[in-house]
Amino acid sequence: MSEERSIPRHIAIIMDGNGRWARMRGKERSEGHLAGMNSLRETVRNVAMAGVKYLTVYAFSTENWGRPQAEVDALMELICKGVELESEELVKAGIKVRAIGERSRFSQKVRASLEKIEQMTAQGQTMTFALALNYSSRSELTAAMQSIAQRVAEGKMKTEEITEQTISDALYTSFMPDPDLIIRTSGECRLSNFLMWQASYSEFYFTPTLWPDFDKAELEKALEAYAARDRRYGLVK
Ligand code: IPE
Ligand code: IPE
Ligand code: MG
Repeated sequence: MSEERSIPRHIAIIMDGNGRWARMRGKERSEGHLAGMNSLRETVRNVAMAGVKYLTVYAFSTENWGRPQAEVDALMELICKGVELESEELVKAGIKVRAIGERSRFSQKVRASLEKIEQMTAQGQTMTFALALNYSSRSELTAAMQSIAQRVAEGKMKTEEITEQTISDALYTSFMPDPDLIIRTSGECRLSNFLMWQASYSEFYFTPTLWPDFDKAELEKALEAYAARDRRYGLVK
């Protein structure tokens, strides 16, 4: 028997390429997002089956508000629809859903959907699934610095008591370990304001595959690539 393959504890995915997938088929961008949601549904299942304990996906960035209103509306609609259609399955699969990002900008309807799915799936033990929505790494770090500064100003903490852990604990992702593997689809090789602090020692995997085409075989390739990486953390073997 071969040695056990190393499986990431936490995978984060920048789900990119829905628009190009649609354009290649002469479809509306919103149809690409719908196909992207189907791909996400399968990926959640496949990642959980691979034994991964945390999955974070970048679903909507703070910058994405700048897209045409019709596209933004379609994406908001898709969030609500996704919650509607998937909650039961996620509960059954033992998947705990958490939304990360600044929620106040969402409509009451979207916020209610997010609260509903978080509440319904709160007991999940198989895998934690974090949906990054209206997420920005810089905003997250700015808010963290403000909250820490506030504690210092109120005399609840001394400046020299601020550690890396204090900062990690003040981020939206405080309930998860840092991502071991960050996957980005569609050939773009950038973070686009995603998990900058958390990615310090993450392994990166870029694939030209567009997000709606990212299937089980594509996930398998990413896991294979990860298993072959030598994570040295600055040390000498
Ligand atoms: C990713 O696909 C989904 C979101 C950002 C919401 P895109 O919509 O960015 O697709 P491309 O990059 O235009 O192909
Ligand atoms: C990043 O993709 C955000 C999400 C996947 C939600 P974008 O398509 O918005 O990023 P850029 O514009 O290529 O950097
Ligand atoms: Mg894109």
